[in-house]
Amino acid sequence: MQSAICEMFGIELPIFAFSHCRDVVCEVSKAGGLGVLGALYFTPEELETELAWIDEHIGGKPYGVDVVMPASYAGAGNLDPSNMQDMLSEMIPQSHRDYVKQVMDKYHVPELPADEKPRSLLGWTEEGARPQVEIALSHPIKLLVNALGPPPKDIVDLAHENSVKVAALVGRTDQALKQVEQGVDIIVAQGYEAGGHTGEIASMVLTPEVVDAVSPVPVLCAGGIGSGRQMAAAMALGADGVWTGSIWLTTTESDMTPMMIDKLLKARSNETVRSRSLTGKPARQLKTGWTEAWDGPESPGTLQMPLQFMLTSDAYHRINKFQIPELVGAPVGQVVGSMNKRKPVKEVIFEMVEQFVETSQSLEKLIS
Ligand SMILES: Cc1cc2nc3c(=O)[nH]c(=O)nc-3n(C[C@H](O)[C@H](O)[C@H](O)COP(=O)(O)O)c2cc1C
Repeated sequence: MQSAICEMFGIELPIFAFSHCRDVVCEVSKAGGLGVLGALYFTPEELETELAWIDEHIGGKPYGVDVVMPASYAGAGNLDPSNMQDMLSEMIPQSHRDYVKQVMDKYHVPELPADEKPRSLLGWTEEGARPQVEIALSHPIKLLVNALGPPPKDIVDLAHENSVKVAALVGRTDQALKQVEQGVDIIVAQGYEAGGHTGEIASMVLTPEVVDAVSPVPVLCAGGIGSGRQMAAAMALGADGVWTGSIWLTTTESDMTPMMIDKLLKARSNETVRSRSLTGKPARQLKTGWTEAWDGPESPGTLQMPLQFMLTSDAYHRINKFQIPELVGAPVGQVVGSMNKRKPVKEVIFEMVEQFVETSQSLEKLIS
């Protein structure tokens, strides 16, 4: 396919895939798209290992890394990286800690063994993400992506000095304009229906608005894209390509647990919720007993990022370790309703491209 974005990266297909799973990243890039590894959950050492593995297995194809440097969070600008964990921990009210225990008790979630401590704070702050950026730029990445706000100017400059393009996710046109001012090369316009942190505007409205506002900066349409028809719609709205996340969660390469995969395959498109329960900012995820507990009448309310995740990370670790059916969940978009069969990444891409071509041809027939 010929699109400006394909030329920019020397890729065959304007399909970008966000994933925390290195196998998915490799398979997407090898199939002609561009895989982007989510760095959020990795320590700098782990990220180094993941990227070294990708370098070894991706066959020289381009790939990217995604970090999360939020524009606003608790303690922003006042955190000392050497003891920020303690500084932030002191901001968590006891009433919230008690509520987590109440929910864990209600669902009889076992305690962790005494020597098992989950990590609670990773890349949710600029201070936490900077070391990830340094590691990412020491690998042959072609794209650095930031979520939840404009990346700091020095990071954009550093990426450019390393011949790495910078992209950023936005949910509103004014955010897109700020990103362009900051020197970002590609805008990912992410609609309300997307998995993960989302704004309030649907892709159908957001994409053309952002395209018109930032032209000639290329725009990737994100949110609700899992098929060739949806890809064709995105391109019809003026996008240069598509940015996808949810669709990869149920691929055969995905590292999700069997229970999680089963839940995702069965979930309908009305079974996600945009909730602050995960991180303190609205993120679309599967509706579970956990999201209901935080969004229901007994909830003490959620805390600001990154406190909410610090508060709940131990609980998440227990829920996942013991696979508590009522509570196990994941960020996922409304497109989950169409994710009904496990397939290899290659097959998902092949089907998407095939249907994109058929759809474009049938649209052409309408006017001929
Ligand atoms: C499980 C999951 C985790 C996500 N985590 C991040 C993240 O760490 N950083 C980020 O920029 N986007 C994240 N996203 C959002 C994706 O980058 C992407 O914009 C979104 O999935 C697109 O919408 P879709 O889910 O409908 O395909 C996540 C999405 C999912 C499904």
